[in-house]
Amino acid sequence: MIYLDNAATSWPKPESVYQAVDSCLRTVGASPGRGGHSMARSASMLVYETRELLAELLGIADANQLVFTHNATDAINMAVFGLIKPGDTIVTTAMEHNAVARAVRVAETQGAYIKIIPCSVDGQLDMEAMETAIKQNPKLVMMTHASNVTGTVMPVAEVGKLTKAHGVILLVDAAQTAGVEVIHVQDMHVDILAFSGHKGLFGPQGTGGLYVKEAIAVRPLRVGGTGSLSESDTQPEFMPDRLESGTPNTPGIAGLKAGVEFILATGRSKIQEKEMALTQLLLAGLREVPGAIIYGKQTAHERTAVVSFLLAGRDSGEIAHLLDRDYGIACRSGLHCAPWAHTAIGTLQTGTVRLSPGYFNSEEEIGAAIAAVKKIAAQGGLA
Ligand code: ALA
Repeated sequence: MIYLDNAATSWPKPESVYQAVDSCLRTVGASPGRGGHSMARSASMLVYETRELLAELLGIADANQLVFTHNATDAINMAVFGLIKPGDTIVTTAMEHNAVARAVRVAETQGAYIKIIPCSVDGQLDMEAMETAIKQNPKLVMMTHASNVTGTVMPVAEVGKLTKAHGVILLVDAAQTAGVEVIHVQDMHVDILAFSGHKGLFGPQGTGGLYVKEAIAVRPLRVGGTGSLSESDTQPEFMPDRLESGTPNTPGIAGLKAGVEFILATGRSKIQEKEMALTQLLLAGLREVPGAIIYGKQTAHERTAVVSFLLAGRDSGEIAHLLDRDYGIACRSGLHCAPWAHTAIGTLQTGTVRLSPGYFNSEEEIGAAIAAVKKIAAQGGLA
């Protein structure tokens, strides 16, 4: 199989990730922070070290401000519903995934005001409109770091300068970028960062994280056992315990740790360079396919490794089906849980076919995918 669905979940993982999950289940199988025996202490150490490594990768000064979540969606929900009160204004963008869109729609029913900043057909943010909105002092700006539909990278650092100057909280959805793009929350003035562990960080599904700047108090959505202050029936105020209740996904976190170690050892920029070279190859090849329409920026500049396209007059689901059935190529078609983004780029009715290369793909695999799309374009409808 040629796996080109890394924007959904990266696959394969580095060998060390499989080994870490297996070894954790076999040798560190106890609950971290709950018990003084050596296995529980090893589990606590593993969770602590993973937090430290993620803090190093993401430019987070105090690792305790980072909590583990199930995924980026979980992290976004925790932040939005732990922060927003009736009457607050949330500014967001037209390229958001439903993780953000659905959360802000619920916040709206709870009395929040929502302002959606438009984006161009290639997914680029209208910075002037964003600046105007920030100057009106909303409570929160929520934006994706890169679209999961077009791969367009958003000007987070530029927005960060504005939100900092106006005392507005900036929440960034880094589901598509953590582990690959430069993320330094301090330098970029990101106050809250939500990320998935199972994409660019090479962790297993069911892992993710939320960073919250020290000065911001997010109300916990879930309360319960933290292994700390067990004499008290109220939730600890301090981080990370404040936002981390219940036994964590320690085997998942072990895999995530191995994923982050792989990135730090390989070099994030080396991973990004390889992914972008493959993306450039894919873009160039698809441009040669008769009837192919490529969405988003036309070059690999300001893009992540995500290429959405259509063949004129053909159904996106049919193309993905043929790629899978006849060529063993895994990709995603349809709306990618991002109806706002498809509205912005004009594909709400059709969806797109999305090919998303990862670090472990080869140039040969990209060549095979281009050749397959060419053949599908030439052969016409579903046989
Ligand atoms: N949000 C993920 C995707 O874009 C699952 O496929």
